[in-house]
Amino acid sequence: MPLITLRQLLDHAAEHGYGVPAFNINNMEQGLAILRAAEAYDAPVILQASRGARSYAGDIMLSSMVEALSRMFPKNPIVLHQDHGNNEATCLTAIRRGFTSVMMDGSLEEDMKTPASYEYNVAITRAVTRAAHAVGASVEGELGVLGSLETGEAGEEDGSGAVGKLSQEQLLTDPDEAVDFVTATKCDALAIACGTSHGAYKFSRKPDGDILSMATIAAIHEKLPNTHLVMHGSSSVPQALQDLINAHGGEMPQTYGVPVEEIERGIKMGVRKVNIDTDCRMAMTAQFRKVATENPAEFDPRKFMIPAMQELEALVRDRFERFGTAGHASSITRISLDDMAKRYASGALDPQIATARAA
Ligand code: G3H
Ligand code: 13P
Ligand code: ZN
Repeated sequence: MPLITLRQLLDHAAEHGYGVPAFNINNMEQGLAILRAAEAYDAPVILQASRGARSYAGDIMLSSMVEALSRMFPKNPIVLHQDHGNNEATCLTAIRRGFTSVMMDGSLEEDMKTPASYEYNVAITRAVTRAAHAVGASVEGELGVLGSLETGEAGEEDGSGAVGKLSQEQLLTDPDEAVDFVTATKCDALAIACGTSHGAYKFSRKPDGDILSMATIAAIHEKLPNTHLVMHGSSSVPQALQDLINAHGGEMPQTYGVPVEEIERGIKMGVRKVNIDTDCRMAMTAQFRKVATENPAEFDPRKFMIPAMQELEALVRDRFERFGTAGHASSITRISLDDMAKRYASGALDPQIATARAA
């Protein structure tokens, strides 16, 4: 089926009480592995491309690849989403290339390093929402700055992230401000900050409530029960993958990610989109290393790619199962972008904040 929008998928997920993993992709092998898992589990999926992915593969390659995946796996609804858009141009060029959803990350300024003012964030997110909704595409906004509550730092691995020390206030989304933000911007989904950060080095120990604030999610959900929440930095950094990498010449210091059971708790509290990139990278790299060390004479890239894809597929299957995404693809009937645009224009998709408060 042709691509669907994030808004349609997350509305369905909310209605049926499940979460949807959003996997970052850069190449064909990742796309094939993820869709093979989706097909096996009858799961809808979000494929997202960062600005880095767009410059790595090129827009034409990325959008054509996802279009090809949608033809190869016609029963699985796919959303193609821009991850961490830094300005209007990034978001609008993505939509022009066929992305059905964008994240306008106005929590940071355009350099993706300087924490932005609230006013800047509202203005730029609202501008992108207006333009995207006019053509039926969806928008994710972000309020609060991703980063570690242990160190006050954002982590640097993905080339974006706040520089310098962040305060607890910046690192935890304020629930009242979240109500104001969603009302003002009309975004379809809200990324929140609760102590997660990008990359492998999120926590120095298995996280408890002091460093992974699920209470923040609960408080936001209480005020915004109808808003789809997004958890970034949601890789679990599985111990088995750390061990596999290190057993084959890797040098990853011991680290801890977001336990899958915490994400499952989040899904019960309105988290609908769960961003995962690092785990997918680790799954593939672990197998590259294994093949390289066990068979140093090997030089056919396919011999590296096949086990890497199988490891990734196993990871993705697990997340579809644990997040409750499995079994839902076949009950989704696509709504076209034109119809989505009409629904936005009629006000039918406006944030239901007043209703929620009264309820
Ligand atoms: O935003 C975080 C993702 O892990 C994307 O990383 O910019 O290296 O593609 P990337
Ligand atoms: P991880 O680094 O935890 O996989 O997070 C990815 C992410 O949030 C992409 O936006
Ligand atoms: Zn992110």
